[in-house]
Amino acid sequence: MKLRELLKFFWDDYIDITPVAHEVHKLLKERGERITNDHIAFRTFSHSDIGLDVFENFFKVYGYVKSGEYNFELKKLNAIHLENIIDPSLPKIFISELRYKELSENSISIIEREITRIKGLSLEELFAQKDIFKVSSIEYKELISESEYAGWLCALGLRANHFTVFVNDLKSITGLDELNKLLINKNIPLNKSGGIIKGSPSEYLEQTSTMANKREIKFTDKTMSVPTCYYEFARRYNMPSGELFHGFVTQSADKIFESTDNELVK
Ligand code: NI
Repeated sequence: MKLRELLKFFWDDYIDITPVAHEVHKLLKERGERITNDHIAFRTFSHSDIGLDVFENFFKVYGYVKSGEYNFELKKLNAIHLENIIDPSLPKIFISELRYKELSENSISIIEREITRIKGLSLEELFAQKDIFKVSSIEYKELISESEYAGWLCALGLRANHFTVFVNDLKSITGLDELNKLLINKNIPLNKSGGIIKGSPSEYLEQTSTMANKREIKFTDKTMSVPTCYYEFARRYNMPSGELFHGFVTQSADKIFESTDNELVK
């Protein structure tokens, strides 16, 4: 698959379960905006079969190289971001992995059972399959009581968790404050955990996100409505060197992970 086709594949899958992103697109397009995508984010488990290294190698073929490494202590996540060296205007890829071995014995055994299930499948094959993990609704609830991230991943599988509007490129909107007002006016629910705007100009990055949509997901015992994906907005600032900051800030991104929190998603 060519890179453009691959990115379209991720987008089509994402937009199908994220109607809020479609709504935002429509709203911005009505204002004559052309949307630049800042980054696409993926979630996975910290395991040699599907961990960060596997993602890094997969995207390397398309000209993506590792350009940042992060640690989200509270959420038990490692993360990296990749930039495209052939065409830097392409969206960055942000991948996080859950250090699931830091969870309880019960969660570890559910997760390891599921990783064994997909053994031998390539990342491309895993992306193509929609329901790679098969947990019960009870196991899902056990997982989210410890890690919303673990539950999300077992319910949704390996797919784009969010796409991100690059706010700097919007012509009719000057910043996140103005954009957020517009979204609130249209009744688009935003993630307020830790404030609507995460980050600050002094960290060279400000981000806002919607809350995730919900969808009925088939578990092994029954179907249940769970949070799926959300849309994100990033405004980047120049560093003292005059160069635009392309990285991520762990303190502020920490709260963005809560956009798929069952307690917060209505
Ligand atoms: Ni993001």
